Amino acid sequence: MEQLSSKIMASDIECLNKVIRDDLSSDVVLIQQISEYIIHSGGKRIRPLLVLLCGRISGFTDGDLLHKMAAMIEYIHTATLLHDDVVDESGLRRGRQTANAVFGNAASILVGDFIYTRSFQMMVEADSLKLLKIMADSTNKISAGEVLQLLNIGRSDLTEAEYFAVIKSKTAILFEAAARVGAIVSGANQVIEERLAIYAIGIGTAFQIVDDILDYTGDSANMGKNVGDDLLEGKVTLPLIYVLQHGTDIEKQAIQQAIDSPHEANISQIIEIVKRSNAIKYCENMAHNYISKALIQLDEFPDSQYKTAMCELAKQSISRIS
Ligand code: IPE
Ligand code: IPE
Ligand code: MG
Ligand code: MG
Repeated sequence: MEQLSSKIMASDIECLNKVIRDDLSSDVVLIQQISEYIIHSGGKRIRPLLVLLCGRISGFTDGDLLHKMAAMIEYIHTATLLHDDVVDESGLRRGRQTANAVFGNAASILVGDFIYTRSFQMMVEADSLKLLKIMADSTNKISAGEVLQLLNIGRSDLTEAEYFAVIKSKTAILFEAAARVGAIVSGANQVIEERLAIYAIGIGTAFQIVDDILDYTGDSANMGKNVGDDLLEGKVTLPLIYVLQHGTDIEKQAIQQAIDSPHEANISQIIEIVKRSNAIKYCENMAHNYISKALIQLDEFPDSQYKTAMCELAKQSISRIS
């Protein structure tokens, strides 16, 4: 994230960006084109920043491995986004047309696979079976989370517990893996690794809750994605679950109808219902609670510039709503 990348992490981020750029090279023109398209459209780079910070706070001192692992995590994220936009039929990402909109679904899926498998080539370079196990388990759980979410499409009876199961798998798990990878390549002990993992899960969960809030309250210029997409996909997220549980019968009916047959035309009505309910406040509180839990994990670390940056990162991860 911009502000945070100032000073302390500047040189790490510069190295990270170099690896991100250089390690995707291929002789196949379309791979080069699509990779550059998605990589150069930016992104907040939160997950690789987690790798870098968790590595530094665990005492990583020399070599390029930390940057390589941070880039590896960003590649997994990037591949996931290429696939996700096909699955979600999304047209806008990072303020530009999605890769699938420009190059087509087949090309997006295949290049997504290329980037995904490149990340596996990179993680082998850490020469750590422990790291490989974490990445194998995490990526497998992320896929399961996406499938679970697919099964939940159109379900107005979705419970909060079911919602949290999905966002933990599809989002928080990669944040957790980022933290563990940073700790492992730095030789951190298990206690430190667990603390960093819990810190990252808190951030990841809060981050997804905020993203789900913004799908109702945000604007597409700021988000770089279209507003109302979740509803249009029939995806029931926390703001909607809240209204389905606490709204009036008329509100519930309107939502039910919108979920049953999603249409551009009824999005603004549902957004209004969500906005005038207590749903947003409720979701914001949830996000804040997860950040508080994340911050507690940092208490045991001695003061350092990295600890300060990690506090800042936790707060910034939900700053899009405050
Ligand atoms: C998008 O993640 C997918 C979610 C988990 C909401 P980011 O919002 O971190 O995406 P970029 O990398 O900054 O575009
Ligand atoms: C993004 O999920 C992909 C993963 C987190 C695996 P979403 O579909 O919820 O996110 P956006 O809104 O497209 O970024
Ligand atoms: Mg999705
Ligand atoms: Mg999506």
